[in-house]
Amino acid sequence: MADTHQSDLRHTVYIETYGCQMNVRDSEMLCGIFRQAGCDIIDTPEKADLILLNTCAVRERAEQRVIGRVTQLFSLKKQSSVRIGIVGCMAQHLKDALLESLPGLDFILGPDTYRTLPELFDLDPGEHRADWSTNRDELYEGIPSWRRDGSPVAFVTVMRGCDMMCTFCVVPHTRGRERCRSWRDIVAEVTQLAEEGVMEVVLLGQTVNAWREEKEKMGFGDLLRKVSATGIPRIRFTSPHPLYYGEEELKAIAECENVCESIHLPVQAGNTDVLKKMNRRYTREEYLGIVRTIRQSIPHVTLSTDIIVGFPGETESRFEDTLSLIAECSFDSGYLFKYSPRSGTRAEREFEDDVPAEEKQRRLEQVIELQTELTRRSQQAMIGGQYEILVDGIGDRGPNQWTGRTRGNRTVVIESEKELMGRLVKVIIEEAGTWTVRGRLIE
Ligand code: 5AD
Repeated sequence: MADTHQSDLRHTVYIETYGCQMNVRDSEMLCGIFRQAGCDIIDTPEKADLILLNTCAVRERAEQRVIGRVTQLFSLKKQSSVRIGIVGCMAQHLKDALLESLPGLDFILGPDTYRTLPELFDLDPGEHRADWSTNRDELYEGIPSWRRDGSPVAFVTVMRGCDMMCTFCVVPHTRGRERCRSWRDIVAEVTQLAEEGVMEVVLLGQTVNAWREEKEKMGFGDLLRKVSATGIPRIRFTSPHPLYYGEEELKAIAECENVCESIHLPVQAGNTDVLKKMNRRYTREEYLGIVRTIRQSIPHVTLSTDIIVGFPGETESRFEDTLSLIAECSFDSGYLFKYSPRSGTRAEREFEDDVPAEEKQRRLEQVIELQTELTRRSQQAMIGGQYEILVDGIGDRGPNQWTGRTRGNRTVVIESEKELMGRLVKVIIEEAGTWTVRGRLIE
């Protein structure tokens, strides 16, 4: 490739990322693919030969944002021959409909087709490319990863796709069937990252704790132990499903010093009938049982969750079950959403979207109010305590401000004249309100 792309002819590529951490990681991989093909990755769209929006389809709003942004970017076509396209979940979800509503798009490519990206430069003027073929085996092994930002935290994909088929969720339809990387490839990647100075890895998968390697009879607990043995200072993982926290997984989290004791445990709803309709495969009581077991097995664990309000058939009293479950679990933080019907999903096909928009909004505000109070309490309980934080950001309220994450995944702001980026430091928490936690460096 190198001789066909002389330095003055190097193509430039600009990528914008929407949605989950999996997409952030995929965008790094896209950069790797383009760089391998001799392209430069640039930070602004104006001088790009190729613009990609790596998109999310999980809620309608995410898609609307991208449509707005693409329309805005189209104005660049007046000045140059830039090619603009949509890749990722939205491409896979909307397929031809996307080309119909945005005829100016030059390409739409689904998540299993990224190896063909460099071929985009071979398109004739005015030619489109649309490919949403799926490939059950595609794990993108062997692509040199490229991390642009030098952050001490790196994402490592351990599985792709999802087999859970929650009735509200478009992801199994956009990212395809579940497939797991081998533990050896994962450990090799983490080892390499540790050698490059990365301090924390976040293992990623749509149901990350369902990871397994059948030939070797290994489950997610075994994977955690293998990754732990690399000696990387910190390990997190997301996004898990409550059903896959078995004894082995919890023991591994509790016993491995470098696995952070912070668990994301998406519940989605607190009422068993709603959970059944969502095909979550657990009842309210079973979920509460999992929470109890987690709290018993992992001292000082922090818990976060995802909630959807206004799912079809969610009556007022069923919604109240969600409120009472949130209170009972006392989550440290929560991601709260209004139900958004997604074409292709069972819920959209089979259930009437029967909670009125104003009611969804009211319920959302109610869960936000409750969770905000729980988050505030959880943060206030930190005051006076000592915590280890990994400094991974720069504060924006004045000079010498840094931000870091506790093992429990809480962001703490500290002030120091020292260069702290990427360092593990001890802090004492002095102030904690609803939004910010402030600490003082003690080591
Ligand atoms: N509507 C609203 N929220 C959704 N999520 C997934 N699908 C939908 C939908 N159709 C939420 C779930 C999931 C999170 C990533 O997004 O809470 O855990």
